[in-house]
Amino acid sequence: MKRTHHCNELRPAHIGQVVALSGWVHSRRDLGGLIFIDIRDREGRTQTVFDPSDLSKEIFERASGLRSESVISVTGKARQRPAGTNNPKIATGEVEVMATALEVLNQADVLPFPVDDPEVSSKVNEELRLQYRYLDLRRPEMARNFRLRSKVATATRVYFDEQGFLEVETPILFKSTPEGAREFLVPSRVHPGSFYALPQSPQQFKQILMVAGVERYFQLAKCFRDEDQRADRQLEFTQIDLEMSFIEREDIYNLVEGLLKRVWKTALNMDIPTPFKRISFEEALNRYGIDKPDTRFGMELADFTEEFRASTFKVFSGAIANGGVVKALNAKGLAGATQGQIETMTEYAKSFGAKGLAYIKVENGEWKSPIVKFFNDGEKGALTKKLGIEEGDLILFAADQWLTACEILGKIRLYSADVLKGQGKLSIPSDRFDFLWVVDFPLLSFDKEQNRWYSSHHPFTAPVAEDIPLLATDPKKVRGQHYDVVVNGMELGGGSIRIHQPDVQKTIFEQLLQIPPDTVKARFGYMLEAFRYGCPPHGGIALGFDRMIAILCGTPSIRDVIAFPKTAKGTDLMAESPTPVEPKQLRDLHIELKVGRKE
Ligand code: AMO
Ligand code: AMP
Repeated sequence: MKRTHHCNELRPAHIGQVVALSGWVHSRRDLGGLIFIDIRDREGRTQTVFDPSDLSKEIFERASGLRSESVISVTGKARQRPAGTNNPKIATGEVEVMATALEVLNQADVLPFPVDDPEVSSKVNEELRLQYRYLDLRRPEMARNFRLRSKVATATRVYFDEQGFLEVETPILFKSTPEGAREFLVPSRVHPGSFYALPQSPQQFKQILMVAGVERYFQLAKCFRDEDQRADRQLEFTQIDLEMSFIEREDIYNLVEGLLKRVWKTALNMDIPTPFKRISFEEALNRYGIDKPDTRFGMELADFTEEFRASTFKVFSGAIANGGVVKALNAKGLAGATQGQIETMTEYAKSFGAKGLAYIKVENGEWKSPIVKFFNDGEKGALTKKLGIEEGDLILFAADQWLTACEILGKIRLYSADVLKGQGKLSIPSDRFDFLWVVDFPLLSFDKEQNRWYSSHHPFTAPVAEDIPLLATDPKKVRGQHYDVVVNGMELGGGSIRIHQPDVQKTIFEQLLQIPPDTVKARFGYMLEAFRYGCPPHGGIALGFDRMIAILCGTPSIRDVIAFPKTAKGTDLMAESPTPVEPKQLRDLHIELKVGRKE
């Protein structure tokens, strides 16, 4: 019999009906001569009962030989469960199906790990889960993640359609533009020695689409970056990518706030308040020590450069005399940290370039610190006031160049928050989402090692109009029309208003980024040319779709929301890629290996 219901559907109203269910053997119990099989499909579970007095011996034996996760079809009559045996945990818990027929569609082998018990399966190591991803994806938590992902993708498409956007697919075989992250190259068979590159993002195509008159483009775009993998990074990932013509920054803020409102409503039935707060890059660094601040808790950094300019503590006054700053933060309630814990923190700070991590513990009404002897009453008063120092606090200092000092304390702030969370002294509700726009990023950053400027975001970002004269005189002061959308300390997306004048773009490439004119022509010539044939002012943004889904699912790793993710080493443990290829394939591609062939 063909399936009549999903396994979440049967209710007391169905009692007496003959039904057919198909799905997986979720569990089998043999009790008092009867066999109980919970059958599970994508939607839910139903209990079926095999009674030897009603059934042929053959069917009963088939049922008793079933292994977990075998695929079956069961036909039978729905009936009320006997008194006291209802299962309130499942939607179909008041009924059961008295089996009359059973078909085994696929008898499963013994599984490498159980999928029916969340207690057990949540502890299975991730490598095994990735190797048998199809089993892992049967786990209800994973199934929920992918259902949510699909729902959000649909809501996104509907939203953009309502807003007049066209979804346009851009090529996966693109060309190498080595400005950004490391690329994946694809050798061309037809053009010996030449390569395609997989796109790091559709950036160039979406700008060209603006020249093409599309005006409003979006795409759920696959992007490829050969970067070190982390919990929030994969070699291939998906962006909600968009670009618009004839707009300003405000238009992007409105559009993205509308999208996120829709998405949060769809996924979590939550109304997120808009507009989002905005914070400049400089203020974010000054207060939180990072350009993607987590504003769900305080412990903000404070500046004491003026107070310590003439300090007798040379570490501080010396750093200031060198053009640096002194910044501090109050790790509220951490005075109990042991010497060992403070050393660990200091080493952690040093791994980000700190020269040390001066501290004060406030315990038993006393300031305990090797450096407190250098402080006068005025300095102590300023610290107490600005940091709200109280009994039980731990004050931590960084004396360095502005950016370094901010970034060090930014890391220490997050580290302290984690420790406080572990001690139960800081708790953040799981349904709290602090969205904000970070704006006014510097257009360019300086690479000391290579002694040259590079684009803070990418080279297509337009400078803030009033800062353009500074490009020639003081490039570090030029702000870009770039914006990031941040939630709970995570970068969800970033974008900018672009340069649409070919001469300005050429100046940025050649004079500021010092890319030789020939290289500019070879890599971006087609873009610069396109910009000469009627290029509207335009801008856009891309949101990390996997990151967004992970945040909505409350999981720290985007691997939990990507159906077939790669491991930290970039391997697919299920299909076992990457793999060596046949010598003939290499010959066809005009490739000779310098490493030995692994069999
Ligand atoms: P950007 O490089 O900032 O901008 O990327 C946009 C967003 O994509 C997500 N993201 C990633 N997600 C998973 N794994 C990765 N390896 C990864 N790298 C980035 C992040 C990030 O905020 N073309 C520009 C956008 C524009 O200017 O319009 C771009 O790609 O959430
Ligand atoms: P020192 O005088 O080098 O022994 O340092 C005294 C204290 O200041 C130690 O706790 C160091 O960790 C700390 N310290 C040293 N350099 C810095 C710095 N640049 N910023 C903050 N603290 C520092």
